[in-house]
Amino acid sequence: MKFLYVFTIGCQMNTYDSDLFYRLLAPMGYVPADSPETADLVIANTCAIRAKAEDKAFSFIGRLQTIKAQRPDFHIGMAGCVAQQEGAKILARAPYVDFILGTHAIWRLPEIVETVVREGRRVVDVDMNEALPEARELTERPASGVSDFVTIMRGCDNFCTYCVVPYVRGREMSRPPEAIVEEVRRKVAAGVREITLLGQNVNSYGQKEGLPDFPELLRRVADVEGLLRLRFATSHPKDLSDDLIRAFSEIPQLCHHLHLPVQSGSTAVLARMNRKYSREHYLERIARLREVCPDIHLGTDIIVGFPGETPKDFEETLSLVETIRYDGVFAFAYSDRPNAKAAGFSDKVPEKEKRSRLATLLELQNGITREKNEACVGRVTDVLVEGKNPRRMEGRGDTAGGDRFTGRTQGNRVVHVLPAKGREISVGLCVEVRIDRALGHSLLATQVA
Ligand code: SAH
Ligand code: SF4
Ligand code: F3S
Repeated sequence: MKFLYVFTIGCQMNTYDSDLFYRLLAPMGYVPADSPETADLVIANTCAIRAKAEDKAFSFIGRLQTIKAQRPDFHIGMAGCVAQQEGAKILARAPYVDFILGTHAIWRLPEIVETVVREGRRVVDVDMNEALPEARELTERPASGVSDFVTIMRGCDNFCTYCVVPYVRGREMSRPPEAIVEEVRRKVAAGVREITLLGQNVNSYGQKEGLPDFPELLRRVADVEGLLRLRFATSHPKDLSDDLIRAFSEIPQLCHHLHLPVQSGSTAVLARMNRKYSREHYLERIARLREVCPDIHLGTDIIVGFPGETPKDFEETLSLVETIRYDGVFAFAYSDRPNAKAAGFSDKVPEKEKRSRLATLLELQNGITREKNEACVGRVTDVLVEGKNPRRMEGRGDTAGGDRFTGRTQGNRVVHVLPAKGREISVGLCVEVRIDRALGHSLLATQVA
């Protein structure tokens, strides 16, 4: 028996692949380790989206050097998007790394580990040639918990000028709907009640391959008996069709929640980002969504300080945030990425100015979030129960006492629920609750009797 530790940075795509590493190496006798120190093999599954993520990867593997110095049979691999981006250069920068595994090479992990461990050779495999068709279907994972993810596509064809994903993940590729529905079916049979369909741009699902489109895929997945909730991430505003908007009122299982990254509120900046929509188009899509589904919860991603972003452009982002009043915003300071086109753009915004804009935006959104939190007190909503709360909530404003269950609303807010007198709650059930109180990052509620 040997021990494997995988350290994951980045998005759900990486979480998914990390899981695959464990499964691919299990036949070779590898079992999960609790920490890098107790492992024989450590793989860092890395993210290249911003410089900070990349730095995190290098500082993690840097710390492994001391283990390697003590144990010559200890091996280190670097996988994911930084591995794909930097390739053999990593071996020069971090000579203690044994192998570099690109994003399209994951299927070859067992042979690579074999070469590294048995022959003591270092390996770099960042070949981006198409994965074997039968290997693609290996992307299925065993079910875990009440809520789980299913990958419906990989890669991205959009080439937003700031983004590294198309370079490190390759071209967009959709899985056949039958395989997706089958995976969902198996997961639901194993106890999963909520599925999130994953891809970089799910609403262009199947277009290239001539498969059924995304709204049709949603309908097929929703038809799986026993599935209570369906979500998806991420979608691109340019491809948000009326048909998909209608799905929010037509498919009962589809959560009233949409993460729709806007990136900027300025049409001029959006054009330089190659986003292919204007501020007006985005606002029109949101208005249409709210018409069809008035209680929809909205989230977004925003980049501040994109090259050439003027104070006036930034004002437009603030005013868009004020107009839409999102339930949640992920905001990032623009970060130059070596492969992305915007790295070559002029008029870079100084670091200090980016920080200050980021702080202004976050302050605005924090106020909105606070108001929204307070406004939901007293409301009745449904919560999918995912577990029993491990610690009591006393001391955090919870005077009710008693054991609570934890779950999430359709809008993805964490709720700690107290069962109603004489009623039972169990994991995997969808229960109706009344919100009693808003804490900083979660809500307290009581089950409706
Ligand atoms: N595919 C998704 C998101 C991918 S990355 C989409 O298109 O919406 C997640 C977020 O990281 C992006 O939405 C963007 O806001 C941010 N991001 C990507 N590249 C960045 C960069 N170079 N600098 C700062 N933020 C970036
Ligand atoms: Fe990156 Fe744009 Fe593709 Fe999203 S849609 S992954 S931001 S290139
Ligand atoms: Fe990061 Fe790669 Fe995902 S760059 S965000 S881990 S696709």
